[in-house]
Amino acid sequence: MPALPVTLLPDNASIDRDGRLSIAGCDALQLAGDFGTPVFVYDEDHVRARCREAVTAFGDGVAYATKAFLCTAMARLAHEEGMQLDVATGGELHVALTAGVPADRLVMHGNNKSQHELEMALEVGVGRIVVDSFDEMHRIELLVADGLPPPTVLVRVNPGIEAHTHEYLQTGAADSKFGFSLAGGAAGSAIDRASQSPAMELAGLHAHIGSQVFVVDSFIKAVKALAPLVRRAAAREFSIGGGLGVAYVAGESAPSIAEWAEAVKTACADAGIESRILAEPGRAIVASAAVTLYRVGTIKPIDGVRTYVSVDGGMSDNPRPVLYGSGYEAFLPRATNADRELGVRIVGKHCESGDVIVQDAAVPADLEVGDVLATPVTGAYGYSMGSNYNMVLRPPVVFAKDGEATLVIRRETFADLVDRDVSPPPGDD
Ligand code: LLP
Repeated sequence: MPALPVTLLPDNASIDRDGRLSIAGCDALQLAGDFGTPVFVYDEDHVRARCREAVTAFGDGVAYATKAFLCTAMARLAHEEGMQLDVATGGELHVALTAGVPADRLVMHGNNKSQHELEMALEVGVGRIVVDSFDEMHRIELLVADGLPPPTVLVRVNPGIEAHTHEYLQTGAADSKFGFSLAGGAAGSAIDRASQSPAMELAGLHAHIGSQVFVVDSFIKAVKALAPLVRRAAAREFSIGGGLGVAYVAGESAPSIAEWAEAVKTACADAGIESRILAEPGRAIVASAAVTLYRVGTIKPIDGVRTYVSVDGGMSDNPRPVLYGSGYEAFLPRATNADRELGVRIVGKHCESGDVIVQDAAVPADLEVGDVLATPVTGAYGYSMGSNYNMVLRPPVVFAKDGEATLVIRRETFADLVDRDVSPPPGDD
């Protein structure tokens, strides 16, 4: 296999004459030494550039989908760059508010928002609630009857579109837990109810067809399917949701945020939609901004079978290969542009055979125990879907910018692991 395609590296990655990688002016091997491994390293200006691209392309109504990666530093960054924030749970709402993001810049999602989550959202006055069921409308009506201010809402419509992506990442096909179905008529009824209810102000419609969608055609199909309803509802706003895919491995390519926006806006104009077009990208903002640095602990060649390379993280920092069979590249930051002649399987340290990071990786043949090994494009749905399975400590997150590395999430500690336990200490009868 040839060297890693540099297009998979963050915007401000550079490779010196010896092949050594720096991210935003910070030497990757030095970062691994300073912060330990595994560690997520984000190129901060890469994230900022994608936020600006989204705001330029869609305008003020574009929201960053925080589920892709969230901490207070990330929430602040997206807010500073002019994005709204999409939060899908009370937890995400709490983190965004703790970061100081004004409530009116938040869009609240969820197919099963609890009474408490809705109460939080109404109390602080989130900008939009995307309503997902009649039960939720009922809960909002009860809260408003109790004296809370009526929210502004978008009705989530399921357009019945099969997006081109992994089955688990589709959300807009007819058989889905999300939204009101277009075909069955539920969407029309939901819009009528929301527009008549004194407990909410209907701003428009929302659709999200799935995630890691590479072809803009899927979005265009959704626009076409929804156009009659959007026009009938005289929707002031129409959100196309998120879902724009990114390239993870050599040979893949994806539309840019600007190209996606252009295709969606053109499709809307062609379909006679005059609403303000909103969107909420997550992955496209953060995925390729980060690399994960691991350290190689064991190399185990099995005659006639394969070579297993074990690193010091695994499914707890990146469950995507296990969950979706997602592919990643691997490379050595000490020899970033070296050919990768050795075929190996890169696995983690969990007590589980399925704990795979890269199923069929290619690495330089001189790979050694102790090497720092990196996987690119790990900025979305890695940290956020991580766990501490086997009590493996969650890694730290570092933002690199202009040669400075800032720790934005510290590594979990052994003390954290027992912090929430309420059992009495030994010997305490
Ligand atoms: N808006 C809504 C309503 C969503 O449900 C999602 C993602 C987004 C926006 C952002 O989608 P994005 O632009 O990031 O594709 N864990 C999976 C992805 C699940 C996405 C869930 N919803 C993965 O690792 O690929």
